Amino acid sequence: MKIMRSVEQLREALSGQQSIGFVPTMGFLHEGHASLLEQARAENDIVVLSIFVNPTQFGPNEDLDRYPRDEIRDQQLAQSAGVDYLFYPTNEVMYPLDMARVTVRSGDDVLCGASRPGHFDGVLTVVSKLFNIVQPTRAYFGLKDAQQLALIEGYVADYFVPVEIKRCPIIREADGLAKSSRNVYLSDREREQAPGIQQALVEAKQALDQGQPLDTVLEKTRTLLQFEGTTIDYVEAVAYPTLGPIDATTETILLAVAVQFESARLIDNLLYTRG
Ligand code: PAJ
Repeated sequence: MKIMRSVEQLREALSGQQSIGFVPTMGFLHEGHASLLEQARAENDIVVLSIFVNPTQFGPNEDLDRYPRDEIRDQQLAQSAGVDYLFYPTNEVMYPLDMARVTVRSGDDVLCGASRPGHFDGVLTVVSKLFNIVQPTRAYFGLKDAQQLALIEGYVADYFVPVEIKRCPIIREADGLAKSSRNVYLSDREREQAPGIQQALVEAKQALDQGQPLDTVLEKTRTLLQFEGTTIDYVEAVAYPTLGPIDATTETILLAVAVQFESARLIDNLLYTRG
């Protein structure tokens, strides 16, 4: 595995390669990231991983400064996942002039976009830059961040970006908690409460299977998510991947939740295809 810190270095290494699988991340890697890398390894000649904590997707009161970092552990995980090139840019490399950014036009007025204004502009901006640097054949994203994935698919379609976007399943801890770099923030008590998020989603799925109305299911999910010391940021259902309202023609529903714990904000979701 080679570590690259400049655009020129990486571009030179990648020129003439057959197929390139790309996994963009913010580091502090876990099995969720590893599953994306494994899929990329299986489907491409070359695997590129980027680690960059992108400042433009963090709000003023968010955790940019304390976002967890561990370069040594990340390099070990990347190496064992079969990464060929690990790209570690700095802010100066990624934002040389910062004269131009990507703006989301629709789909960021719901879920995380509603509670984190400007977040997805930052995500699409950095993903667009990374795509232009790496020029991947395929890029891998987790359904853990289902709204992010849908907006990236929308961006790629609208800008005719020559890349294939791959949707990858959510990887969970044994007790059901979705893996996240931010899980390290949780106190012992919060860590015990957190698997309740997935349990609420499992119950929501069962209720939908039984044919219960969506509003009833959302209301019940809200009740199940009332853990002591936490607040619900949102419990919402939208059509997927349009992120628009659900109507009679909607085939796939994204039921997504965000719970604010004292130490971290956790998200999880369920994609439900109507029979
Ligand atoms: P990050 O949170 O590091 O996540 C990188 C990728 O890993 C994303 O596609 C995310 O959906 C996926 N991922 C995270 N946890 C997962 C899990 N439990 N199961 C499956 N996949 C999981 O998402 C970002 O970084 C950034 O916004 C980024 C796209 C890199 C732009 O800065």
